[in-house]
Amino acid sequence: MNTEVIKITDINNQKSEILKAASILTNGGLAVIPTETVYGLGGDACSKESAKKIYAAKGRPSDNPLIIHIFSPDDAEKYAYTNEIYYRLAKAFMPGPLTVILKKKDIIPYEVTGGLDTVAIRCPSHPVAREIIKAAGIPIAAPSANLSGSPSPTCAEHVINDLYGRVDMIVDGGECEIGLESTIVMVNEDGVVTMLRPGAVTYDALCCVCERVVLSPSMEGTLSENEHPLSPGMKYRHYAPDCRVVLLDGDDKDVLDFLISEQKKCRCAILCYNEETELLDASLLFPVGDKTDVAEHARRLFSSLRRADAEKPDIIYAHLPDRSGLGLALYNRMIRAASHEVKKI
Ligand code: TXA
Ligand code: MG
Repeated sequence: MNTEVIKITDINNQKSEILKAASILTNGGLAVIPTETVYGLGGDACSKESAKKIYAAKGRPSDNPLIIHIFSPDDAEKYAYTNEIYYRLAKAFMPGPLTVILKKKDIIPYEVTGGLDTVAIRCPSHPVAREIIKAAGIPIAAPSANLSGSPSPTCAEHVINDLYGRVDMIVDGGECEIGLESTIVMVNEDGVVTMLRPGAVTYDALCCVCERVVLSPSMEGTLSENEHPLSPGMKYRHYAPDCRVVLLDGDDKDVLDFLISEQKKCRCAILCYNEETELLDASLLFPVGDKTDVAEHARRLFSSLRRADAEKPDIIYAHLPDRSGLGLALYNRMIRAASHEVKKI
C-alpha cells in the first residue's frame, strides 16, 4: 500500500491537508492522526470493514476493542448511552486525555468493540485531531498507532517505523504533549467509576469530580490466571521493547553505584535522570528529564525505550517510578515494559 506522509503545523492554513485526511477516513481508508497522548491509527468507527483493516494493519487480536474519537462530548449520545456521571467527567476533562466506557448503541459494530456491549469514548484535545474529526463528520476508531506489542508512538518517526506501507496516510503533527495513553474509566450503573488504565487524568483528579472511584486490579497487571480483566488490552504484553528491561528500586546513591558497576560489566542502556548524566559513562544513556519532572518522564518514556532498544544493548535499566499522581501511569507502563522485573538495590 502507498502511504502518504503529510505534516500539519498550521490548521488554519492547511485546510486542504485536513480535508484529504478526513476523506480517506470517510471513504473507508486508514489515516494515522496525532493526539495529545499518543498517535492513533484511525478508521471509520461505524464501519466493520474499517475496523478489520485497523486490526490487520496493527497486527492486533480482534478481541481487543478500539477507542472511538469524537469532536464534542455531546456526540457520545449518538454512539452510546450516556449518564449524569459521563457529563460530569466530560465537563471536567474533555477535550482531553480521558476515555469513558459506556453501553454502546447499535450504530457501533461489534467488530469495533471486540464483541463487547460497551464502547470506549474519547474526545481528544489535539487541534489537528479535532479538525480532522470535525471535517470527517464521523467517529474515528483509533488504537495507538504502533505495531501490536511495541511501545506507543509519540512522534511521526515512530509511526513510520511501524506502519509505513500498512496505512493510507500518516499525519505528522509533531511530538505528543503527554506521551502516555489516555486514562480509561468505566462508569457503572450504580455510579461507581472504575479506573481501568491510569493516564494524565489522575486518580485524585477523578476523585474531585466523582464520589466513588476505584482502581481496577488489572491496572498493575497483577491479575491471577482465571481473573477476567475489565479492559481486554490489559491482558496482553504491552509497551515492551525487544530487549529485557529491568526497573531499579533503591536509594539514589545505591542505584547510581549499581549502574556505574554494571556499565563496566556489560552493554547496558540506561534511562537515567538528567542529574545522573555527568556521573555515568556517556554511552547508551537516555535521559528522561530531571528527577522530579514526572511529566517530562512520561513524555519521553516511549521514545527513550524505542531508542534504547534500537541500540541492541544487553539490558535496559530504568528507575522504578513513584506511584503518586501521574507517576501511577508511568509506573503502569514501565512495569509492563519490564514484564514486572524489579530489582531491589
Ligand atoms: O490515548 C489513547 O487512549 C490512545 C489515543 C490514540 O487515543 N489510544 C489508545 O488505544 O491507547 P489502544 O487501543 O491502544 O488502547 C485502548 C485500550 C485497550 O486496552 C482496550 O482493551 C481498552 O482500551 N478498551 C477499549 N474499549 C473497551 C471497552 N469497551 N471495554 C473495556 N476496555 C476497552
Ligand atoms: Mg495501544
